[in-house]
Amino acid sequence: MEESLRGLHALMIVCLVCSSRLSYVWAHGDGLVDQPLSKIGVHNIVVELDDSVSVNAYPPILGLEGQDTEWVTVNIEHPNPDKNDWVGVFSPAKFDGSTCWPSGDPKKQSPYVCTAPIKYKFATDSNSGYTKTGKSCLKFQLINQRADFAFALFSGGIWNPKLVAISNKISFSNPKAPLYPRLAQGKSWDEMTVTWTSGYNIDEAVPFVEWARDGEPSKQSPAGTLTFDKNSMCGGPARSVGWRDPGFIHTSFLKDLWPNTVYTYRVAHRLCNNEIVWGKNYTFKSSPFPGEDSLQRVIIFGDMGKAERDGSNEYSNYQPGSLNTTDQLIKDLRNYDIVFHIGDITYSNGYLSQWDQFTAQVEPIAATVPYMIASGNHERDWPNSGSFYDGEDSGGECGVPAETMFFVPAENRAKFWYKTDYGMFRFCIADSEHDWREGTEQYKFIEECLSTVDRRKQPWLIFSAHRPLGYSSNQWYGEEGSFEEPMGRESLQNLWQKYRVDIAFYGHVHNYERTCPVYQSKCVNEEKHHYRGALGATIHIVVGGAGAHLSPFSKVIPRWSIYRDYDWGFVKLTAFNHSSLLLEYKKSSDGKVYDAFTITRDYRDILACVKDGCPATTSAS
Ligand SMILES: [Fe+2]
Repeated sequence: MEESLRGLHALMIVCLVCSSRLSYVWAHGDGLVDQPLSKIGVHNIVVELDDSVSVNAYPPILGLEGQDTEWVTVNIEHPNPDKNDWVGVFSPAKFDGSTCWPSGDPKKQSPYVCTAPIKYKFATDSNSGYTKTGKSCLKFQLINQRADFAFALFSGGIWNPKLVAISNKISFSNPKAPLYPRLAQGKSWDEMTVTWTSGYNIDEAVPFVEWARDGEPSKQSPAGTLTFDKNSMCGGPARSVGWRDPGFIHTSFLKDLWPNTVYTYRVAHRLCNNEIVWGKNYTFKSSPFPGEDSLQRVIIFGDMGKAERDGSNEYSNYQPGSLNTTDQLIKDLRNYDIVFHIGDITYSNGYLSQWDQFTAQVEPIAATVPYMIASGNHERDWPNSGSFYDGEDSGGECGVPAETMFFVPAENRAKFWYKTDYGMFRFCIADSEHDWREGTEQYKFIEECLSTVDRRKQPWLIFSAHRPLGYSSNQWYGEEGSFEEPMGRESLQNLWQKYRVDIAFYGHVHNYERTCPVYQSKCVNEEKHHYRGALGATIHIVVGGAGAHLSPFSKVIPRWSIYRDYDWGFVKLTAFNHSSLLLEYKKSSDGKVYDAFTITRDYRDILACVKDGCPATTSAS
């Protein structure tokens, strides 16, 4: 089993490198490629500790200079090495059965291990001669995750592991340190929210944010604290081997901000003895006033996930484009103002530790610009949990970590739809994992969001949802003949048309595709690159290729499909003023623009009649 798994992954890499056609075998919009941690047979672990085997990790104390990320060296010596030997990183370091839930039956013995590692590597990863020498030196990159770490050596492969040795414990100097701040727009344009994670509950320390406008005295704003426990997970692995304590998640609301103004901030906890534990210093720029005429730049993508910079977990091959996208965005941080990650955030799929890895990966971005998320199937879907789809894609998380770890300005964060204004933009973010059809609560919200914007001040009206509710010529939508998420646009297209939505963005399908301005599957505008005057209908864009395995297109190319790219990438929208908008699609591999269009128009063009979008008394045809 183990050998065949490793063989399959080797084949996968060869396929990806040599032939995009063959890699289709592995590609599925939502991951026939499994979460690597789910391949570990935690329930099969047997203990055969062997004194002749050694595992040593150093340095013993990490983060002595305040770092939250450190490289660790793990030396292995095994007198009977095997190519399937592997090392798992466990945290907390005490990962034996004492951390398991009691079985309830005193006669039944708990398993020795009941939690998955945070990540793993094969002993041969750094030394192919390991099978002869029995020696290997592995490098792991660890992040501060509120607990100590131990490295465990297993033989027998990952599905039937035998635990043969456990390393010394290592730890960050302050495991509880406040970390990984992420910004999000508040409910009003002049409010920024800061959310972060720590090991401090409120009875131990008071969380707050210290912030200041350049040259002014600093203020302190209090933060609320949330967490969740295993009982709030809907099923396994989130409720079983994938569970890991998420720590405490704090959110502070910085209010009455001046528009378009740079602020500095740092998160903090005041301990009982009045000592303060500080986070790092960051800066952000506040939102423009709604309607303000200034340069406004937006990044949009879906399905990024995370990957391990140390090559752990199947060569980091679960979301192969994730680090490229993250690194391009970090490099270009000065050239955009807000990010929308429209669902399928971490692909933790019930392995809770991965939320920390994700927030650490995006920290340079999310701590500097608002990082707005939408809910996807990998955040929310679970049978009998109220999700619109009964799949198991959330791995039992049923939305709880996503709703807690990231702030969104929704009325009810368990219903993940919200509106947010950014200068000349109005964003209506829908939740495709809850029913959106006419007559539903969400439909009412969407109409309210679209109808309440003053287009003279905010001309650029954007709709977004995780699943392609509009148009996609992805292979399986083509096979279904729907070219959309079934039931997707049936009721919504009337709203898009009536309220003249400019662009609709989707993820879920892991590629890039742009349509013409399209209504009822027909292009209403023949222009492809420089739209002038009334658009006539909405342009639909799938931008789900930020990280996860790519999704193939159908062989049929519908007439409404203007540009398709089977590659990883993201979109940048630039509003230069009320009359001029630029969209660019960039590949994650090189950050260069591969598709682009402009919209140039005046207010009267938005008011102009469009098909089925005008009162019956007009002469619209
Ligand atoms: Fe998805």
